[in-house]
Amino acid sequence: MCGIVAYIGPRQAYPILIKGLHRLEYRGYDSSGVAILNSNLKLYKSKGKVSELEESVKGKDLSGTIGIAHTRWATHGEPNDVNAHPHFSYSQNLAIIHNGIIENYSPLRNELKKRGFVFISETDTEVLIHLIEDIQLNEKVPLAEAVQIALNQVVGAYAIVIIDKNDPDTLIAARKGSPLVVGIGEDEFFVASDATPIVEYTREVVYLNDEEIAVLSRNHELRIRTIKNIEKTPYIQTLEINLSELEKEGYEHFMLKEIYEQPRSIRDSMRGRLKVKDGIVLLGGIIEYQQKLINAKRIIIVACGTSWHAGLVGEYLFEELARIPVEVEYASEFRYRNPVIYEDDVVIAISQSGETADTLAAIELAKSKGATIIGICNVVGSSIARATHAGSYTHAGPEIGVASTKAFTAQVTLLTLMALMLADQKGTISRSKFNQLLHELDGIPEKVEKTLLVNDKIIEIAEVFKNSRNALYLGRGYNYPVAMEGALKLKEISYVHAEGYPAAEMKHGPIALIDAEMPVVVIATNKGTYDKVVSNIQEVKARKGVIIAIVTEGDEMVKALADYYIEIPETEELLVPLLATIPLQLLSYHIAVMRGCNVDQPRNLAKSVTVE
Ligand code: G6P
Repeated sequence: MCGIVAYIGPRQAYPILIKGLHRLEYRGYDSSGVAILNSNLKLYKSKGKVSELEESVKGKDLSGTIGIAHTRWATHGEPNDVNAHPHFSYSQNLAIIHNGIIENYSPLRNELKKRGFVFISETDTEVLIHLIEDIQLNEKVPLAEAVQIALNQVVGAYAIVIIDKNDPDTLIAARKGSPLVVGIGEDEFFVASDATPIVEYTREVVYLNDEEIAVLSRNHELRIRTIKNIEKTPYIQTLEINLSELEKEGYEHFMLKEIYEQPRSIRDSMRGRLKVKDGIVLLGGIIEYQQKLINAKRIIIVACGTSWHAGLVGEYLFEELARIPVEVEYASEFRYRNPVIYEDDVVIAISQSGETADTLAAIELAKSKGATIIGICNVVGSSIARATHAGSYTHAGPEIGVASTKAFTAQVTLLTLMALMLADQKGTISRSKFNQLLHELDGIPEKVEKTLLVNDKIIEIAEVFKNSRNALYLGRGYNYPVAMEGALKLKEISYVHAEGYPAAEMKHGPIALIDAEMPVVVIATNKGTYDKVVSNIQEVKARKGVIIAIVTEGDEMVKALADYYIEIPETEELLVPLLATIPLQLLSYHIAVMRGCNVDQPRNLAKSVTVE
């Protein structure tokens, strides 16, 4: 959600902080701010985008080699200059940036108010910094200890960095439930909520664990203690992100770049795992738990948003190939409804960011009941990746556009590999079918590349429908989740109301909406329930609905029925989602661009949802 960047070292902090904020802007972006220390603790904040902050600080004193900065996605208090971070303590000696939510902020605030504290903002964050200063002064303890005491009183989630006017040589950082990464350079430290602002300066990073407090001091090694005062040895990891993955590289938007990256990202997610010549699927990250999966009586998939849609495709894959019953749950519902979880259940948690609060909580719940948890995450070292027993990274590379594209197809690819591996091990698939599917999957990146050639045609279709106020997306079987994902993409970035439905369900409600104004996108590829989908198209046409059909190359019947059609290459039915998704991503992208929407940073949305 919000983004954190902090720096201490020999360089000027401001350029590093502001560049870092730009890199993190995709996470949340209704306001931003920066605090820099150089004899004075200077604090600048601004509503709106990071560029507005940049404008507002022009000509101001920005010198200093230690500083903290933040982009905010509002939770407590509307987005404005006052509620933006950093927040000063009462004496203005301390400033804090914070991601997450302090759940017991209200009693803490009342308590502090009684003692004469005055609050300027509506945020929970301001409560925390007042509390820390109160402890620092009353108990006469160093700042790190005051932070430790305060965090023991706090309920909720936090990633924080604190700067102290009286100590220009130290930053204090801590986390619980919200991610925080420390970058270690030469005589310098960086802190950020993910590695993207750090990677151009150093590849050595330490991911803080929950309830850890890091002290970053000039001329000192990184020191980490828990809030229970246990010393920890920092575990240094090497980042594998390429800087080019964080740039638009000539594309107008990250989303478009990421759509076009899919032949590569799908290939990367299969690399070293799909071994066509040897006729095997090897998932090294879960090998230790393979037997658990084979023996599982049931698989529960937990996820949110687009990852949940990938989970739905997973349900069809696991049930068809490996004959294991699957339930796909919204993590936010699962965690609060006292679900029945058995010890021989395998829970698969899917998350691009690896930080989604609800998914993380669902994992903890299932873990506490003894289930085995397998992760499918994109961000290496993320909280979910670390909370699971085992897992496979999707290796799609950093996804910056808020609307998920390449992460979705990478998730579906991994689920396909997992289902194939299980089917093979369980003997629920014939060897010849297995080999045929491996071969076809291996060729999918080329077919995605071919699918992308439909772009020009999609621009023409987008031109026709850019002013529509509603849209219906229909699909059956494997294409039902694809329809839902297509509708979600349109909603997210172009603010057009869209519904994704299993095509046959249309009769039970949505059909009432159909008229000549209503575009109906139908995924009508030529397998499985093709004939039934053709009937559904007829039903729409009979009500003057306008059909945009996704068809298999060479299909003549649907082409003749549809008002507009987009062809995708022929493939195995269970691999169709990897191709059919592409034109829907492009359609929503072009409609959003034509409507003048902010494609990469749609209003109200955040890339990494670290609050429930
Ligand atoms: C947010 C993002 C979506 C994403 C969902 C789940 O809503 O905007 O694109 O699908 O969170 O995120 P995750 O990182 O867990 O996949």
